[in-house]
Amino acid sequence: MAISSPYSSSTSTSLLLCCISIFSLLLGHGRVEASHSVYTDLQNSESLPGSSRDQPYRTAYHFQPPKNWMNDPNGPMIYKGIYHLFYQYNPKGAVWGNIVWAHSTSTDLVNWTPHEPAIFPSQPSDINGCWSGSATILPRDKPVILYTGINPQKQQVQNIAFPKNLSDPYLVEWVKPHTNPLMAPTQNNMINSSSFRDPTTGWLGPDKVWRVVVGSKNQSRGLGILYRSKDFLHWVKAKYPLHSAPGTGMWECPDFFPVSTLAGSRVGLDTSAHGSHVKHVLKVSLDDTKKEYYTIGVYDLVKDIYVPDAGSIEGDSGLRYDYGKFYASKTFFDGYKSRRILWGWINESSSVGDDVKKGWSGVQVTQYVQAVPRAIWLHQSGKQLVQWPIQELETLRTGKVNVPSRLLKGGSRIEVSGVTASQADVEVAFEVPKLGKAQKFDPSWTHKAQDLCTQNVAKTRGGLGPFGIMVLATEGLEEYTAIYFTIFKNHSRYAVLMCSDQSKSSLNNSTDKANYGVFLNVDPTKEKISLRTLVDHSIVESFGGEGKGCITSRVYPILATGGGAHLYAFNNGREDVQISSLSAWSMRKAHVN
Ligand SMILES: *[C@@H]1O[C@H](CO)[C@@H](O)[C@H](O)[C@H]1NC(C)=O
Ligand SMILES: *[C@@H]1O[C@H](CO)[C@@H](O)[C@H](O)[C@H]1NC(C)=O
Ligand SMILES: *[C@@H]1O[C@H](CO)[C@@H](O)[C@H](O)[C@H]1NC(C)=O
Ligand SMILES: *[C@@H]1O[C@H](CO)[C@@H](O)[C@H](O)[C@H]1NC(C)=O
Ligand SMILES: *[C@@H]1O[C@H](CO)[C@@H](O)[C@H](O)[C@H]1NC(C)=O
Ligand SMILES: *[C@@H]1O[C@H](CO)[C@@H](O)[C@H](O)[C@H]1NC(C)=O
Ligand SMILES: *[C@@H]1O[C@H](CO)[C@@H](O)[C@H](O)[C@H]1NC(C)=O
Repeated sequence: MAISSPYSSSTSTSLLLCCISIFSLLLGHGRVEASHSVYTDLQNSESLPGSSRDQPYRTAYHFQPPKNWMNDPNGPMIYKGIYHLFYQYNPKGAVWGNIVWAHSTSTDLVNWTPHEPAIFPSQPSDINGCWSGSATILPRDKPVILYTGINPQKQQVQNIAFPKNLSDPYLVEWVKPHTNPLMAPTQNNMINSSSFRDPTTGWLGPDKVWRVVVGSKNQSRGLGILYRSKDFLHWVKAKYPLHSAPGTGMWECPDFFPVSTLAGSRVGLDTSAHGSHVKHVLKVSLDDTKKEYYTIGVYDLVKDIYVPDAGSIEGDSGLRYDYGKFYASKTFFDGYKSRRILWGWINESSSVGDDVKKGWSGVQVTQYVQAVPRAIWLHQSGKQLVQWPIQELETLRTGKVNVPSRLLKGGSRIEVSGVTASQADVEVAFEVPKLGKAQKFDPSWTHKAQDLCTQNVAKTRGGLGPFGIMVLATEGLEEYTAIYFTIFKNHSRYAVLMCSDQSKSSLNNSTDKANYGVFLNVDPTKEKISLRTLVDHSIVESFGGEGKGCITSRVYPILATGGGAHLYAFNNGREDVQISSLSAWSMRKAHVN
């Protein structure tokens, strides 16, 4: 390992200014798009798998299909010690269309073996598509899948599928009963047939009745429609939704699960768990904004409704698993390791036309990926969830580089060399001994973390931070993606802002350069400010404050690829900060499909 220090201790003002000005570019936000666009002429345009193998942007350890379009993760589960992941997939093309449930299995959630699609259009109730859904493990270890089918009238209905052979731990073949669909819009139930999809994992009440929720809306009110069944085959719609929220629009991919309230417990719970020491989480994906939010609350078993805790924010300014690119997520309970695991989809940032061009030319093949599986649990405050990459991912770490504890002077940058910077895992912790220079916090910024990261970074130069790391960076900083912290003085306390800055991630001006941000519930007078970042060619997945704030970015550097990528720690504030520990690893390639 070698550490170079481009800025000497007598850092000149011009160097300092140069360093600060790299943060002053202001960039617009990503736009919002409703539902799936349909590109009928392009749906059968395959991307080329052979030539995609040696792409600069192809990830090495994130889950992805061998080729073509992928979206939502579906029906994750563990059965007979084998992990299953299904996903929305177009077997024929690089854009959304012809949707089936593709299927892969794994023994460690890191290396994956592909199988033939598990669920594909084969009966009237799914003849126009097999959309998202969930797996439930019924008593005596019997998995079933509920999913949304598109029927001949293009209505959204809910279907079931069973494994053909329960002795096969890979569950490669699935069969469907003729009684499908099990839930459908009718004149009577008033369900909007274009807004009725993505059934959850089922849970069993103390009354031995199963329940599931299906995402929907009534005008602009998002709905989690509740159904009940004694046998998982005959379902009756409940009079009231499990929960609903005005102004949130269509709820896609709802996920409803219990979490343990035992202080410090990271243990996951079976989806049917209830009782004392249990709270519940409801997550929904908002079709209108393509953002997700969750609330923590109480599941009232008598009224069969979910009540979010007082003060919960509903809508995309509420709590989020990930404040960057992350959508259509779903958790499952891993009973083998007593943990709950979260999967989420990382969308491409470039436009459809580019995807197809990339697909055709094979020059830059589009790559839809899933974020790394994350363990998820309730923070001891009870006010938010915490996430951490599953421990199995650490088996890919190699060639550890340690930076001894050292001061990072204001306006300085150090290189962490000796790791494959385009394919790495970095953990760093900062201590901030002197907080006097923290800029005053304006209360109006409280729900504006992303705006602050986008617009007000330059203003922070007189304060404490920004300090953090630059990944996928060129030596001359023509390109870099920065993940950093800024500390503000907020009345008698401190507010810690975490940002992921893509404004300089690529010299290509056509790529998405939105910045993302979140306030971390960390007290810098008592705690270190920690960051873990997974770098995987075009993915930068960051976990701040030991998993209290997560941000995933998709970036397309032109120069900072392969050996052109460098890793730095930096401090652009006026106050010095202490690196109390910094470790980085090169990551091996996983066997993914
Ligand atoms: C079911 O799966 C088991 C294990 O893979 C296999 O030995 C058996 O032949 C399968 N049965 C059928 C009917 O395919
Ligand atoms: C939709 O909302 C309207 C107005 O609040 C209400 O009258 C109607 O019953 C709702 N429909 C359904 C299916 O919930
Ligand atoms: C049903 O949902 C579709 C799709 O979002 C929407 O266009 C339509 O207006 C909805 N219909 C009613 C009656 O709310
Ligand atoms: C995916 O990215 C495209 C292009 O940036 C954007 O239009 C679309 O809304 C995104 N979808 C999701 C689910 O994030
Ligand atoms: C700032 O302090 C106010 C008042 O204590 C509090 O309500 C708010 O949540 C704080 N904001 C942040 C980002 O910490
Ligand atoms: C990208 O944008 C920058 C700043 O607007 C400009 O100086 C540069 O010429 C652009 N690069 C290309 C290749 O268009
Ligand atoms: C720049 O990005 C656009 C849009 O993603 C893409 O079409 C183009 O090929 C990229 N150019 C280079 C040089 O990578």
